Formats: sequence, structure tokens, C-alpha cells
Amino acid sequence: MLVYLNGDFVDESQAWVSIDDRGFLFADGVYEVVHLYNGQVFEWDRHIKRLHRSLAGVGISGVDDAALEQARDRLMQQWPTGEAALYIQITRGVQKRSHAPPAPGVLTPTVLMWVRPVEPIAPALVQHGVSVITVADDRWAKVWIKTIGLLPNVLAKGKAQSAGAYDAIFVRDGMVMEATSANVFAVFDGVLATAPVTNYILPGITRQVLIELARAHGYSVREEPFAVDELYRAQEVFLSGTLTEVLAVSEVDGRRIGSGAGPVTLAMLKLLHRQVGLE
Ligand SMILES: Cc1ncc(COP(=O)(O)O)c(C=O)c1O
Repeated sequence: MLVYLNGDFVDESQAWVSIDDRGFLFADGVYEVVHLYNGQVFEWDRHIKRLHRSLAGVGISGVDDAALEQARDRLMQQWPTGEAALYIQITRGVQKRSHAPPAPGVLTPTVLMWVRPVEPIAPALVQHGVSVITVADDRWAKVWIKTIGLLPNVLAKGKAQSAGAYDAIFVRDGMVMEATSANVFAVFDGVLATAPVTNYILPGITRQVLIELARAHGYSVREEPFAVDELYRAQEVFLSGTLTEVLAVSEVDGRRIGSGAGPVTLAMLKLLHRQVGLE
């Protein structure tokens, strides 16, 4: 499989990054994941916009959109059909280890991109839903930056797996934020609710698309904080994300939510699938 690394297309076995790369040493970088459906790129412009917001948030400059697009198109040729994920990672670049980042523009960023096929989520999970646990949100205060520094997310996902759950939902001051790699929606009396965009969540592109689709199809959506106690009492809960799409949650901290994927959850999944040409 060919990957893109710093302007070259190389076999993945030949793609090497320096031991002095600041991404390796400090997680000093940002990333994006884009869903490809049968050779169609889902919401490229929004992903690129968020990538630039993340880059600006950490002061990395010198990324050429045209080069990213060319690389994307070449990599996509390897997976013209089916579903695939395009991964873009940009680190500040290579420099002898020192915490102090050089001034913007001094280093050449390290740019890695690859496309790999993804397995759609198992139909049984889509129909029956998944169980989640809640965990204290011990991440930093700039969660809106899509940084590669994902250790709190990794540890929370691990905690969920150890507890026999699929994922963990971060809770800050009693309020529901998001899952380890997805946003969280709840349905209260037919109204969709999701945490508002603040610095404490990643503004998910799937989240935004779903809000727009829901409103266009007559659903009310509240982008307002809600507490874990309220989540326990929701009629439906689902996760949203680029690869997660819309995934029902049937259990939170051992408490049942509905019985399998609920009608609003399935309606949202259907609207998303229609949008990407799957239905
Ligand atoms: C922490 C977190 N929240 C939310 C999301 C969902 O964002 P998107 O819909 O853009 O994939 C992700 C995606 O990776 C994420 O990592």
C-alpha cells in the first residue's frame, strides 16, 4: 500500500519518520480522518477547515491544501470502491529534542497521509446498540484542537474495554461532553440534544451534518449542556463520528436505554446514509 509522506508516495514498509520528529517526541501535531464512500470524499471542505483551525491552534504553518488534495486523489485510486478512511497527520516537524517550539515557519511540517479500507460497523451493533461507561473528563482545556495527543482518550477507551463496554463518555462537572472518538446525542421527548460547541468538545463534522439534516427534516435540536443523570433517563442515546457514523447506545453505566436502536437514531443513520449515497 502506498502512503504519502512529505511529498513522496512510498510503500508503507518504506515510510519512515525521524526519531526527532516532534510528533513522536511530544505529540506535537494534529490530524483528521475523512470517510470515503465508493470513491466519494465526505465533507472534505469542512475537514480541511477544521484541520486549519487545529493547525492555527498549535501554531503550525506551511501546509499546502493543493498538495493535500493531490495526495488524497492519488491515494484514493487504491480504494476506488467500498468504504475507506483517509488519515491526515501533520506534525510540527523534525528538530533536536527541545520543548521550545521554533517560531512558526522555521520547521517543515511532517505530513503523513494514507487511505485504508474500513469495515462498516457490524449490523448487530447498529441494531442493538452498544454499552458505554462514563469517565471523568481529565483532558486539557483545548479539546477543540484535533491533536494527536490522545492519551486520555486511549486510556478511557481502555477502561471501557476492561469494563466490557464499547466506549467511554467524558463527563466534566457532571455534564456530558463526548465519547473518546465521537460526539454524543440524546433524545428527550423527541427532541435531539447534544453538548454545545465549547473548547471542551471536538466540534464533530458528523455532529454538525446530523444537526443540519435533523433540522431540515423537522426535528428540534438543542445544543445545550445536559447532565449524566439526564442521559440515564433519555429515550435514546447515540454516538456520532466520521467512522462511527450513527451508533445507538443501549446501556450507560449499566442502565438500559430504550430497547435497541431507537426510531430517531435509526432515522438519523438513514438520513446520513442517504447523504453519502449508501441508500
Ligand atoms: C474526541 C472526538 N469527538 C468527536 C469526534 C467526531 O468528530 P467527526 O464527526 O468529525 O469525526 C471525534 C472524531 O474522531 C473525536 O475524536
